[in-house]
Amino acid sequence: MSDVTLTIDGQSVTVSQGATLLQAARQLRQDIPTVCYHPHFTPPALCRVCVVEVEKSRVLVQSCSRVAEAGMVVHTASPRVQLARKVLFEMLASAVDLSAAPEIQAQAETYGAERDRYGKGVKRRAFPLFDDNPFYIRDYAKCIMCWRCVQACGEDVQYTFAIYRAGRGFDAHISTFEGVPIPESTCVYCGNCVQACPSGALQPRRAYWMEQGLDLKELARVSNLEQKEKSKL
Ligand code: SF4
Ligand code: FES
Repeated sequence: MSDVTLTIDGQSVTVSQGATLLQAARQLRQDIPTVCYHPHFTPPALCRVCVVEVEKSRVLVQSCSRVAEAGMVVHTASPRVQLARKVLFEMLASAVDLSAAPEIQAQAETYGAERDRYGKGVKRRAFPLFDDNPFYIRDYAKCIMCWRCVQACGEDVQYTFAIYRAGRGFDAHISTFEGVPIPESTCVYCGNCVQACPSGALQPRRAYWMEQGLDLKELARVSNLEQKEKSKL
C-alpha cells in the first residue's frame, strides 16, 4: 500500500494510505480534541469537535473519519476551526450534564466555551436514572450520544446488540430494545459499554452509589431488599 504526503499546519507529513487526518495530525503531535472518537472503534463522526479546515473544501471536515489524501493542505487550529469547536462545546454543555465528564469539560475550557452561553432557561436532556441491574447504572441525563456504548455492545466489540438508539431529534437517546430493563435484554454484563462511555452516563453501580454517599453496608442492604422484592414477583 502506498503512502500519501500532505501538509498539516505548514508541516509536511507522510502517512499510510487509509490513515485519517486525525492520525496524520497526531503523527505531528498536533493536538485535536475528540469526544466520540475511540481508537479501537469505527469513527461514528458525530460530535464534530475534531473538525479541521481543508483548503478548497467548502465545509469543515471531521478529522477522525476523513481519510488523508495526497496534496491536502490542512489547518487544525485556524480561527474558523477554533470558533466551531467553541460553539460545539457550548451547545453540548447547554444540553447535557457534563459534571461527570472532566475530560470533556477540560477540552471545552481550552476553547473558552461558556457553559451558560445559551442562557439558563435552555431545555436540557432529562431522563430518569436507570438502576435496574447489579452491575451498572445508566444516567442518560449525562449522555452525549457519542455512540461508543452501542459500538462496544455491537459490531466493534461484543456482538451482543443489547442497546441502540430510540427516539428522534432532541429526544433521541440510547435504550434497550423496546426499553426493557437490562436483565430482560440481551446484555451479558461484559462491561465494555461502561468502559467506553466518556461522559459518566454509564458507571459501575457500586462506585456510583458510594459517590452518592451510600456506604457498602447500606448498598448491600438496598441490593438485598431489591432481591427480596424481585423474588416475591
Ligand atoms: S451512554 Fe455514554 S457511551 Fe453511550 S452514547 Fe451516551 S455518552 Fe456515549
Ligand atoms: S471525534 Fe470526530 S466527530 Fe467526534
